[in-house]
Amino acid sequence: MTCIRSEIIGHGHYLPAKELTNDDLAKIVDTNDEWISTRTGIKSRHVAEKDEYTSDLALKAAEMAIKTAGIKAEEIDAIVLATVTPDNTTPATSAKIAGKLGMRVGAAAMDISAACSGFVYALTMADNMIRLGQMKTVLVVSAETLSKITDWTDRNTCVLFGDGAGAVVLRAKEGNGTSEDTGILATKIYADGTQYENLLCNGGVSTTQTSGYIWMNGKEVFKYAINSLSEAAEEVMKMGQVEAKDIDWLVPHQANVRIISGVGQKLGLPEEKVIVTIDHQANTSAATIPLALSEKMTDGTIKKGDLVVLNAMGAGFTWGGALVRI
Ligand code: ACO
Repeated sequence: MTCIRSEIIGHGHYLPAKELTNDDLAKIVDTNDEWISTRTGIKSRHVAEKDEYTSDLALKAAEMAIKTAGIKAEEIDAIVLATVTPDNTTPATSAKIAGKLGMRVGAAAMDISAACSGFVYALTMADNMIRLGQMKTVLVVSAETLSKITDWTDRNTCVLFGDGAGAVVLRAKEGNGTSEDTGILATKIYADGTQYENLLCNGGVSTTQTSGYIWMNGKEVFKYAINSLSEAAEEVMKMGQVEAKDIDWLVPHQANVRIISGVGQKLGLPEEKVIVTIDHQANTSAATIPLALSEKMTDGTIKKGDLVVLNAMGAGFTWGGALVRI
């Protein structure tokens, strides 16, 4: 039975030039490379300059995605941006990017706030609009300048985060409705609002009129992450009628290498099929998955036809997964 699929026809990523190693951090707070490396897998992160905004990072990733797609910005029907660090409280940062990219006037622009699950949420939203026939070409971008909501005096959090952006261009394509189709084969998104207080930015427009800093109950996040990430991956594989042995790559949210390997083991995936980029990117929230995906598609690791599971978990708590044939 024929159906509409959203195919990834372009990908892009961008990391700000400034790099901060674990040794650099050890000069700011009481920490060391050994602690950060063994507990998190992070060796360095990229940090935006003061006058370098989320939209600037997003724009670079989006431009690369449009270029690799071989299309013009005017062909894009909508931009969906996942971020928790918008340039302004309103309007949506996606509208600013749409203007800078030269997207046609009238094309839709929206921001999605789902923290580290933002890319999976944005992809789900874009895929649904495409499959409904409302849009043909959608640009999905995730970009964060977490360094601007990081408390650089708190060693519990400041070692974990980084800045960056990733993007994909989705385009409608007819498929056969089987797992052999290219494009997004299944998505699933979840939330558990009872966990609101366990991971948050301790400020906001309506509460403190400040943006606040990231705060978390690290141990609770850790435990919840392994179960929820595994659940999301298992569900999308079931929906797509594939098994773990069929999967070429798991591209998980990059929060902690111990979470990543715990999820890989739970799913029964060999270590070499699990993509890890946290060492040089740290946790860039919504941006980790498209950053890793684009980096690995660019260097030829992930190829056309590969079957990929994406899964993410973050503040809310939110979590979700996607099954995609590249
Ligand atoms: N350098 C040196 N020591 C540190 C540091 C640091 N940067 N941070 C904490 N410590 C100390 C603690 O003070 C504690 O010392 P104590 O035993 O004397 O009290 C000790 O190290 C152990 O701390 P724990 O919190 O028990 O360390 P743990 O092994 O749980 O690791 C971590 C902490 C890495 C935060 C872990 O809990 C984790 O990864 N949780 C998931 C949270 C996460 O990834 N959040 C990101 C956002 S959410 C997301 O993306 C899913």
